[in-house]
Amino acid sequence: MKRELVAQLERLVPRFDEMLAQAAAPEELEAARVAFLGRKGELAALMARMGELAVDDRPEVGRVANAVKAKLTELWQQAQQRMLPRPEGAYFDAGEPGWVPDVGALHPTTLIQQEICAVLQRLGFETVSGPEVETDFHNFEALNLPPGHPARDMQDTLYITERILLRTHTSPMQVRTMLARRPPLAIIAPGKVYRRDSDLTHTPMFHQIEGLLVDRHVTMAQLRGVLTALVQAIFGPSTRVRFRPSFFPFTEPSAEVDMSCVLCTGRGVLESGELCRVCKGTGWVEILGCGMVDPAVFAQVGIDAAVWSGFAFGLGVERIAMLKYGIGDLRLFFENDTRFVRQFA
Ligand code: PHE
Repeated sequence: MKRELVAQLERLVPRFDEMLAQAAAPEELEAARVAFLGRKGELAALMARMGELAVDDRPEVGRVANAVKAKLTELWQQAQQRMLPRPEGAYFDAGEPGWVPDVGALHPTTLIQQEICAVLQRLGFETVSGPEVETDFHNFEALNLPPGHPARDMQDTLYITERILLRTHTSPMQVRTMLARRPPLAIIAPGKVYRRDSDLTHTPMFHQIEGLLVDRHVTMAQLRGVLTALVQAIFGPSTRVRFRPSFFPFTEPSAEVDMSCVLCTGRGVLESGELCRVCKGTGWVEILGCGMVDPAVFAQVGIDAAVWSGFAFGLGVERIAMLKYGIGDLRLFFENDTRFVRQFA
């Protein structure tokens, strides 16, 4: 009794499926539904026979009946879907143009980084790269930033362990290069740097390019010459460069470098008479930090400061890209919008 009822219930599924497959019109679908799922349909008739079962057998057969009902309902819904009129234009048109993939382009950060590196390579600098996960020694200690220096504060630095961190600048590449080779040397090191900083004008990751030249009798005039050549190659020959005294623990003397403002060409006011918003009316914008390698750094890497001297500089790539391409909002660099990057293709 029980087995027979289960078998009949299960047979409903293929039988209903076949009937639906043969239905050619909505009325035939409806007839199939009434015959199987209707109040006086086959499923209802079989379920009415549950009362004839031994009480112990009822739960199991009830579960089969419920599963069959769910399956029949699903088959009927699928059949209805197949029967729906196709919406306008949903036919296959072999002549229609294909799907065009969303093609990107080189990011402005990449473009300006390549351009800056190309200029400096022509001047004789060799490109090197190194780790973004750095030791405290390379990022701070060898750069004359001893324990307790405010720049090492947890507030500014993303630490991994007490001695391992995400580099906060590309300057550790000065240390790595001077430990690995002997002067004379001239390198640039582009790459990502990380700081615990996030607002409209700061992102936790950005790009820098480090420069380092070590040779005999290196002067600040040579540093100025290299940076002037670089700025004029990127922004045009009439761009002016000025040095302002500054401080970095790893250079002495140190300077911050400004270039004449690209938007107002150094006048501080626009043609319209408005105050220039890029340089805030000063005519100058800061672009990098630099200086002469501090003898304390040479001592850390075993280079004789009595024989060798050098200069170093570090510039922010996004900042240069914003000035070069007139990008007003730093966040655009990190939103991965292909409409943004394609403008620079
Ligand atoms: N590392 C410095 C910074 O991130 C920039 C710098 C590099 C200054 C090299 C001097 C020499 O601010």
